[in-house]
Amino acid sequence: ARVVALVPAAGRGVRLGAPIPKALVPVCGAPLLVHAVRGLLAAGCVDQVVVAAPPDMVDVVVDALSEFGPTVRVVPGGEERSDSVRLALDEAVAVHPDTRVVLVHDAARCFTPPEVIRGVVDAVRAGAPAVIPVLPVADTVKQVDSEGRVVATPDRSRLRVVQTPQGFDVDLLRRAHDQQDAPVTDDAGLVERLGEPVATVAGHPHALKITTPFDLVVAEALFSGAEL
Ligand code: CTP
Ligand code: MG
Repeated sequence: ARVVALVPAAGRGVRLGAPIPKALVPVCGAPLLVHAVRGLLAAGCVDQVVVAAPPDMVDVVVDALSEFGPTVRVVPGGEERSDSVRLALDEAVAVHPDTRVVLVHDAARCFTPPEVIRGVVDAVRAGAPAVIPVLPVADTVKQVDSEGRVVATPDRSRLRVVQTPQGFDVDLLRRAHDQQDAPVTDDAGLVERLGEPVATVAGHPHALKITTPFDLVVAEALFSGAEL
């Protein structure tokens, strides 16, 4: 069964505040997106990668990814992350109708260890139609109202933070996106709305999402000496 990884990389990176789109920002000697694609291919279980690029920078992204050859395709992304995922998914299915497993992996989680990627793929192959990597929550989490007043304290032991890649049976992900009406940042959430089960596997602290300048400093400190 063919495994395709979709990499939404079309965001502007407003919270990072760099003059170029976040996926193209260099960290540890290469753009985030290049590290992300390397990591997916290094896992050894991904046959094809489809990247959704900022629509006005497709050429730049194609250039940045030229080292990978035809294993990596680039499409223009959309207005919202979910649009970018959908556009990449359409491309994947058009090019490879035999696709069975689809990973959706944020370019911003560019140092995700290969074992996390393999763990997700293995779980989908073993029969789970939707799989997400998660970590336990260290902080207590409060739910607040619009005035910032606490309305609930969920039991921390049952909370998880969610990482990527998220893995799906291709038909389920297509159904999930077909019934999507408002933008979402979490593909598994769409699957939940269909009433389908979502399984979890172990995530990893190194799969952190680079969102702010602080995260960039952390990533640089963690990975600049590493073999990447
Ligand atoms: N993304 C995308 N298309 C969009 C918006 C986001 O492909 N229209 C991608 C981003 O490039 C990123 C991933 O989705 O790899 C996760 O989004 P996020 O971390 O929020 O990145 P940005 O949207 O670029 O950042 P910000 O929200 O700070 O602008
Ligand atoms: Mg965003």
